[in-house]
Amino acid sequence: MMWLVNFLVLLTLSACGIATLPTQLIFQTPTGQSLENIAVRPSSKLLITSTVSPTLFTLDPTAANATLDEVFTFPDANGLTGIAEYRPDVYAIVAAELNVTAIMAAPGSVVIWSLDLTSGGTPAARRAARIPQSKLANGLSTVPGDPDLVLAADSVLGAAFEVNVRTGAVRVLIQEAATAPIGPSGPPPALGINGLHVRAGVLYFTNSQRATFSRVPLGGSTVEVLGSGAFDDFTLDTEGRAWVTTNPGALTLFTPLKNGTFEEEVVVNTVLNGPSSAAFGRDGARETKILYVTTRSGQVVAVDTSGGPA
Ligand SMILES: *[C@@H]1O[C@H](CO)[C@@H](O)[C@H](O)[C@H]1NC(C)=O
Ligand SMILES: *[C@@H]1O[C@H](CO)[C@@H](O)[C@H](O)[C@H]1NC(C)=O
Ligand SMILES: *[C@@H]1O[C@H](CO)[C@@H](O)[C@H](O)[C@H]1NC(C)=O
Repeated sequence: MMWLVNFLVLLTLSACGIATLPTQLIFQTPTGQSLENIAVRPSSKLLITSTVSPTLFTLDPTAANATLDEVFTFPDANGLTGIAEYRPDVYAIVAAELNVTAIMAAPGSVVIWSLDLTSGGTPAARRAARIPQSKLANGLSTVPGDPDLVLAADSVLGAAFEVNVRTGAVRVLIQEAATAPIGPSGPPPALGINGLHVRAGVLYFTNSQRATFSRVPLGGSTVEVLGSGAFDDFTLDTEGRAWVTTNPGALTLFTPLKNGTFEEEVVVNTVLNGPSSAAFGRDGARETKILYVTTRSGQVVAVDTSGGPA
């Protein structure tokens, strides 16, 4: 979910027509400030991070003229990356001193914060864990069934950390070739695992430099590659489909088939400008069909998935 990965990926598309879903631009940062990751509150208000700001923002996507409003500013940080709701309206958020030139976090600066918004008043912030060995914590996932755990993708180390947000304990969950960057022989930047999300005991993840979308059982090491593309972060829906942001301007839908393989199709093409992450609305039948996409060009785009792909 971080920085534009500048390399050519040839997507092999099936011969059938590509269904393009309707999109609506609902916000653009005035300065083009990059937007990085997104979570949707139970009320359907969006929470948005930026790699170039230590402030967590909120946006009401149903407002006539949506604005980006401050929620909380984290100390000892200049940027935020992943965000994940690990208990109802309580979020884990990655904060760090990011060097956007080196594409790395300053040593020792990576902190997983917990931000509790349940009171409706002043957010309650708590340093939940430090990851001193992290070089670039990026995507963040909950672990359904274990509300004390989140997983953090480290794109530079090419590993996923398991973080206990109650005790602060951190361990490496997976560090394999499939999660690692290729290294200097590959196209820059050398970023491996990027977005990650867990569903039914399976970890799904993208790898930026390898340009893959893959899955591996939690605790396992046999990785299955599901598709190839310049993928960033993504979201999984209730039907087990993955909606994957795809550089430079697309959204790719992976649909599980009965025989265990996935159908891959581009459902939004060229309209997006550096898509970085995606999350569905929550409050009401209409909202749950709207996919909100953030972009590195500072946009929030609503994708109407109610018509579905062809
Ligand atoms: C939204 O912005 C437009 C253009 O600036 C303005 O004309 C309109 O009155 C605004 N609507 C609301 C509800 O604030
Ligand atoms: C960021 O990284 C670049 C390239 O490695 C380096 O030249 C620069 O000094 C770093 N900036 C800071 C503030 O550490
Ligand atoms: C799985 O099913 C799809 C759709 O019916 C088919 O195109 C594909 O070839 C099948 N793959 C395997 C490995 O059986």
